[in-house]
Amino acid sequence: MNGRLLLLLLTLCLAGLGQAQNLDKGKEINSTCAGCHGEFGQGGARGEYPRIGGQRAAYLADQLKSFRARKRVNIPMYPYTQEGELPDEDIKDVAAYLESIELPTKWPVFKETDDALTRLTLTERVMIIPRAPGNLGNGEAIYQKQCVTCHARTGTGRGKFPMLVGQYTGYLKRQMDLYVKGERPHDELEVGGVLNALKEEDMQDILAYLTSIQEQQ
Ligand code: HEC
Ligand code: HEC
Repeated sequence: MNGRLLLLLLTLCLAGLGQAQNLDKGKEINSTCAGCHGEFGQGGARGEYPRIGGQRAAYLADQLKSFRARKRVNIPMYPYTQEGELPDEDIKDVAAYLESIELPTKWPVFKETDDALTRLTLTERVMIIPRAPGNLGNGEAIYQKQCVTCHARTGTGRGKFPMLVGQYTGYLKRQMDLYVKGERPHDELEVGGVLNALKEEDMQDILAYLTSIQEQQ
């Protein structure tokens, strides 16, 4: 078999794999989520509604299942995650669709030819979390030592561990407080204590550090 044919076959196989999840269906489902989380999953009300666009699909799916099972309390979302409303297949589709959304962290450079609507659409997607105050050096030191194994060096997460960078500071802080109070399990097996061992200032410093690395993504 020649190299070109092999490449073609390989491409076809990969394309087949990519189609396992139905992104159009995911987009359709997302229209019910958009009322709170925004059309591009960019979240809103300064993090009362978290960003879900560009988040890792495996994590999104886990959380949706956990809301549905009422393991993670989320009263506003309860009606949307009922079995009849959100079966497993839909969870996979909407999670894959949300993961595929790219939210840039830089303002776009417009072309002369871009009309007003194009410009508006391009700016709507820009997601820049305001810098949070705090000691960046201390935040970086703790983050790089205690959080990277799961949330990755640049805060993008890995596997089913969530992306933290590019998420609203207020939302992240609220989650950290819930973990510390034991109202949301962080990582039952190992981490239980990681967040509990942090001082309030350390948490603020980590949050500040996370907002400082988003531009480099
Ligand atoms: C009525 C408003 C509302 C609607 C509609 C809604 N959500 Fe949410 N969602 C919320 C709120 C509020 C939270 C944050 C809960 C918290 O602070 O713990 C949330 C949290 C989440 C989270 C957790 C994010 C994270 O980082 O852990 C995911 C995932 C999510 N929503 C997905 C969806 C999807 C998918 C849909 C549509 C099927 C949807 N939501 C519809 C209000 C809503
Ligand atoms: C051993 C792996 C592991 C380590 C280390 C870890 N985390 Fe996590 N983290 C998780 C998991 C798993 C979740 C999702 C938990 C769930 O399902 O609710 C999570 C969720 C979070 C969330 C909520 C994200 C969201 O979108 O709701 C925050 C905030 C967070 N971690 C902060 C931290 C910080 C800060 C550190 C370091 C001090 C840290 N984590 C270390 C595994 C880890």
